[in-house]
Amino acid sequence: MTTKGFIFDLDGVIVDTAKYHYMAWKELANSLGIAFSEAQNEQLKGVSRVDSLKKILTWGQVTLSYQEFADWMTAKNDGYLSYIDQMDEREILPGVVDLLSSIRSKGHAIALGSASKNARLILEKVGLISFFDCIVDGTNLTKAKPDPEVFLTGSKGLGVPPNSCVVFEDAAAGIKAANAANMISIGIGKKEFLFEADIVLSGMDQVNESLLELLIQSVSKESFNQYQF
Ligand code: BG6
Ligand code: MG
Repeated sequence: MTTKGFIFDLDGVIVDTAKYHYMAWKELANSLGIAFSEAQNEQLKGVSRVDSLKKILTWGQVTLSYQEFADWMTAKNDGYLSYIDQMDEREILPGVVDLLSSIRSKGHAIALGSASKNARLILEKVGLISFFDCIVDGTNLTKAKPDPEVFLTGSKGLGVPPNSCVVFEDAAAGIKAANAANMISIGIGKKEFLFEADIVLSGMDQVNESLLELLIQSVSKESFNQYQF
């Protein structure tokens, strides 16, 4: 049997931290007198901290000095970390532990593919770090999603070729990255945002044993897409 590589985004896929990023960005935007909607937040999912702040400033037509920009970046992360500090395993999203355990028990490889610089801290806090054979995060990336670098680095780290990898993502930018890497892309969230994914599920608890078997048996993205869901 070929070993498959299962690559997971972190925020909004493994843990319910997408809401904390939203809250911290909203506080920052409002302090700068910029309105910030949930639809705008959707465009920040999967986007690095620095690019997220640039987008918010563009939306609000606000210009900052280099130092002010750096200070707001720190303020955002401090706000975010104050939420993360309270986190424990109760914030692991439903279905995640069963899925990771099942992949492990079947002998397949697991990687993290996240833009976050806080990824290791969060995986440790919720007690999941030992599931991961390879961690790619915001500390070892040069190009942000939708560039495929994050997932290609994960595939290399696992020693599994890209067309034998499956990506779980809640961000449109991440789905584009997975597709560009020629990996099966599983969108977690709403079809209206994730329509480019090979399949969209409302949550990780929708990945049942029969879908997992199908993912394991599919020899490529193309062969997976022969199935009608
Ligand atoms: C991504 C999130 O996983 O990580 C983004 O979807 C976030 O919202 C990005 O901006 C960077 O995270 P961090 O923790 O390094 O600020
Ligand atoms: Mg995410």
